[in-house]
Amino acid sequence: MKSPRKKVLVTGGAGFIGSHVADAYLARGDSVWVVDDLSSGKRRNVPTEATFVEMDIRDPAVRDLFRTVEFDLVNHHAAQIDVRASVADPQFDATVNLLGLLNLLEGARETGVGRFVFVSSGGVVYGEPETFPTPEGAPKLPLSPYGVTKLTGELYLNYYRRIHDMEYVALRYGNVYGPRQDPHGEAGVVAIFSSRLLDGKPLTVFGDGEQTRDYTFVKDIVAANMLVSVMPLEDGGGLDDAAFNVGTGQGVSVNLLADTLETVAGVQPGRSHEPARPGELRHSRLDTTQLRARGWDCGWTLEGGLRETFEHIANGRQTA
Ligand SMILES: NC(=O)c1ccc[n+]([C@@H]2O[C@H](COP(=O)([O-])OP(=O)(O)OC[C@H]3O[C@@H](n4cnc5c(N)ncnc54)[C@H](O)[C@@H]3O)[C@@H](O)[C@H]2O)c1
Repeated sequence: MKSPRKKVLVTGGAGFIGSHVADAYLARGDSVWVVDDLSSGKRRNVPTEATFVEMDIRDPAVRDLFRTVEFDLVNHHAAQIDVRASVADPQFDATVNLLGLLNLLEGARETGVGRFVFVSSGGVVYGEPETFPTPEGAPKLPLSPYGVTKLTGELYLNYYRRIHDMEYVALRYGNVYGPRQDPHGEAGVVAIFSSRLLDGKPLTVFGDGEQTRDYTFVKDIVAANMLVSVMPLEDGGGLDDAAFNVGTGQGVSVNLLADTLETVAGVQPGRSHEPARPGELRHSRLDTTQLRARGWDCGWTLEGGLRETFEHIANGRQTA
């Protein structure tokens, strides 16, 4: 049965992941508004069928938009996303990731939004995990201000649910890669390595290259967003009852990532090594049992996802 057309706000819909999510809501038949200040996003990423509002999520005018449109669903992807930038300027990170979030939450509360999908990060909220793959219930001790603001965002949402009855879901992504990604996100290495391979330059690996991440293709991330936008929610009151890891459950080393991208690119320009970066996590791999139990599956292989990403970056160069 086709679900009724919803009015959906996608924040960060000019960015990498948010623009794919906006595409998917439109494909489902929903009406989509994109709010984005274009600080890192690009106007060309916003789907043409969406209504684009160039605005900072901290702007009080966001609340007027909520009153005018009366959204059914908010999908919040806009954020300060750079872990290092959050270390360099924790206050700026908090203004966007917390004050911006609160501006949206107040707009949602005032206008009775049906559901709020919040994007958290499984790569940072657990800090240096002790259990692999890491389940949602693992200790959460973030090691960066970005990780702290993502976790605090979940706490605010939990408060809005318990006190204001607002439905929400938090998605804790692995390291997301795919077409339209830029080098600054949590899986920026895919864009960086792809560009180096296209230039025939050696790939730079920090440390021994055996550090692992849960590299997740953006189309699997989009599928998770579509599922949690409509699935029935259970009534557990804890933070982890409303949070779902989204990842492959596999830990892929930087060395394996480089090998696979070289295969995809059909070139081997060699490797150079730099000292390990201080404070970098050794391993990250997410347990996705909870989301799989709700019907989500991770359909993309590493090579398949990297091939699509690499070809997108290569084609972008030809048309630039
Ligand atoms: N890329 C990953 O691996 C990854 C992993 C975990 C979580 N996430 C989360 O996913 C979301 C999207 O990340 P992405 O990788 O697509 O990054 P991105 O930078 O491509 O997208 C973020 C978008 O938010 C916009 N934005 C930033 N500050 C804003 C503000 N104050 N007001 C309005 N718009 C603003 C940017 O212009 C950009 O379009 C973020 O919440 C990020 O924390 C990403």
